[in-house]
Amino acid sequence: MPFKKIEVRPIAGALGAELRGVDLSSPLDDETFDEVKRAFHENLVIFFRDQQITPQQHVEFAKRFGKLDVHPFAKGLDDLPEVLPVIKEAADHAGNFGGTWHSDVTFYEEPALGSILYALETPAYGGDTMFANMYMAYDALSDGLKDRLEGLTALHSASRAYGAESRTSRRIAKGSESMEIKFGEDAEALVEHPVVRTHPDTGRKGLFVNHVFTQRFKGWTQEESQPLLDYLYAHAVRPEFTCRFQWRDGSIAFWDNRCVQHYALNDYHGQRREMHRVTVCGDRPFLAREAHPAAAE
Ligand code: SIN
Repeated sequence: MPFKKIEVRPIAGALGAELRGVDLSSPLDDETFDEVKRAFHENLVIFFRDQQITPQQHVEFAKRFGKLDVHPFAKGLDDLPEVLPVIKEAADHAGNFGGTWHSDVTFYEEPALGSILYALETPAYGGDTMFANMYMAYDALSDGLKDRLEGLTALHSASRAYGAESRTSRRIAKGSESMEIKFGEDAEALVEHPVVRTHPDTGRKGLFVNHVFTQRFKGWTQEESQPLLDYLYAHAVRPEFTCRFQWRDGSIAFWDNRCVQHYALNDYHGQRREMHRVTVCGDRPFLAREAHPAAAE
C-alpha cells in the first residue's frame, strides 16, 4: 500500500529506511503516526534527518509506542530519567556504550520494544551505527537447525555488560567518565527467552540471542552452548543482513529491538559524540507454534 503522508526511502536491501515529511517536534496526527508505525514494521529500523527536538518532545514521541524504560545501570537525565545520554568524550579512549552487536536489555523478562536515538553532537567522521535483520538471520538457517533452535530456551543476564568483571567495569577502571554507569549490583539474575521469537505485531519469526546478554541454553552447560551460540552470533550479522547509518547532528534512528541487533562503531577517537536514547518497553518474548495471525496480513 503506498504511503500518503510520508516518504519512505530504503537505505539497504536488508533493513532500514529514511522517512521524509515528518517533524517530530510537534505531535503527529493519527494518519501520519500510523504510516510511521507501518514503515517501522516494514523496515525494522527507521531514520529521520534534520530534527530539532527537546528531551520532552523525544519522550512524547516515544510514548505513542508504549511505556518508557528507565535504564537500571546507566543514569538518565536528572529531570527526565527516561532520557539516557549516550556520550563519548573526546578524551575517553576506554571504549563506547553499545560497541558490540546486541539487542537492548534482553536481561529483562520483558525486553524493550525498541529504542529511539537522537544525535545531538556527532563526530566529523566515524561513529556510525550498524543494524542487522534477525528475521533474515532466522530465514537463512537450514530447516534442521531451525527445528533444533525452536525447541531451545536461552538464559540471558546483564552480567557480561554490567557485572563486577564486565566490559563496563573495565572501561570505568581505565578512566572512562563519559557516562554515569553502575555495575556489579543485580547484574547476575538470569531470565529465560525462546531462541526463536515470534514478533507480536508482524507474526514473523526471528533469531533472538545476542553476544552481550545471552549466557547459554537452558539445560546445556556453558561449554556445550558456546560453539552453537558463536555460530549464531556470526551468522546473525552477515553483511547482507545489515545496514549502516551515518549520523549527522539532528538525525534520529528508531530500531525494533524484537527483530534487530545493533552495533555502535567506536572509530572516532579524539572526537566527541553525544546522543539521547529513549527506550520503549516491550512484552514477554514467545514462539507461536501455529502460524501467528499477524503473519497472514
Ligand atoms: C546503543 O546501543 O544504544 C547505542 C547506539 C549508538 O550509540 O549508536
